[in-house]
Amino acid sequence: MPIRLACIVGARPNFMKMAPIIRALENNEFDGEFEILLIHTGQHYDSNLSNIFFTELGMRRPDVSLEIGSGSHGMQTARILEGIESVLLKGAPSGGKYDYVVVVGDVNSTLAAALAAAKLGIRIAHVEAGLRSFDKSMPEEINRMVTDTVSDLLLVSEPAGVTNLVREGRASEDIKLVGNVMIDTLVHMLDQAKDIVVAEQFGVKPNHYGVITLHRPSNVDDVKILADLVAVLIDISSHIPLVFPVHPRTEQKLEQAGIRVKLEKAPNIHLMGPLGYLPFLSLTSNSRVIVTDSGGLQEESTFLGIPCLTLRSNTERPITVEIGTSTLIGSNADLLRSSLHDVLHGKYKLGRCPELWDGHAAERIATVLTN
Ligand code: UD1
Repeated sequence: MPIRLACIVGARPNFMKMAPIIRALENNEFDGEFEILLIHTGQHYDSNLSNIFFTELGMRRPDVSLEIGSGSHGMQTARILEGIESVLLKGAPSGGKYDYVVVVGDVNSTLAAALAAAKLGIRIAHVEAGLRSFDKSMPEEINRMVTDTVSDLLLVSEPAGVTNLVREGRASEDIKLVGNVMIDTLVHMLDQAKDIVVAEQFGVKPNHYGVITLHRPSNVDDVKILADLVAVLIDISSHIPLVFPVHPRTEQKLEQAGIRVKLEKAPNIHLMGPLGYLPFLSLTSNSRVIVTDSGGLQEESTFLGIPCLTLRSNTERPITVEIGTSTLIGSNADLLRSSLHDVLHGKYKLGRCPELWDGHAAERIATVLTN
């Protein structure tokens, strides 16, 4: 009897995390051991936030697409919960109850799928468990806490995750430090990304530009905070050209606040829509510095050894600050300028790669699931 898994994806970072897991589960080594149903909730639906990753990462297409779309947190989470419950209730394709629902990361789809499974008495494996920013104003923090509470198998990417889960009273036999699946994808794709240098296409020279990403509600939803950040970006662009793929959420807020035009007019800032995985990895891996509020990019820059100035005052991924290349800047414009100065003058810390961020985390997860 195969191990029956329902694997859930929904929003951009999920695809990069799930792709190596599916590849490992389908590897010959585990021939026939797993039966997989891949469910896409449709939390992200624009091609550049969803479809493109299936193509680029060579991931199999979803078996079920729920097409839930955007909405308030309550509405989106509720619709996903309802949709996933009805799929799980039908049972596994070969019959019977699923052995595990596998969820990754901390988006609304992760939370909703975990709740649906928990209420049906299906075991939950949470990949990227235990991360805590200790900041409940972040929707992702709530998602992480609740998902871990109802999960049975806690698959952790860095030691702080283990510490947090033990502190929360979780049994050590349920916690497995397996490494970082997002880095699995990076390792798998890096050579291909290097083959398609895209910097010139965006008007900048390899190694002589910064990459900006910005999409956290705490940074973009408040007009004053967003306007201040835009002013700082324009300021630092006089020291180094900046490439800025704009997330749809940020795009809307910039437009609504009437400040997109300021970025457009800045001669050293190159704006574009969201990029696919390969062009984006090509951009980041050839950049001098990354300025971001993304969780995943803190990790990717640490692996790549590229300085990462993180526009957040806390992080659920402390290893990226402790031994990696990230510095928490918060919204401190002076600290951003001085850190950028350090980067440009070769004074910035070098950082090193955390243990188990080696391209093989998904294989370890597959092995854990067989036990
Ligand atoms: C979500 C995740 C966040 C993750 C991010 C990556 C939650 C709570 N947040 O944030 O953790 O870092 O994805 O991108 O799950 N939109 C589009 N096209 C799409 C999807 C969304 O234009 O395909 C627009 C919609 O106007 C939507 C807004 O973006 O209202 C925000 O989308 P949503 O999925 O709610 O949150 P993200 O900000 O993308």
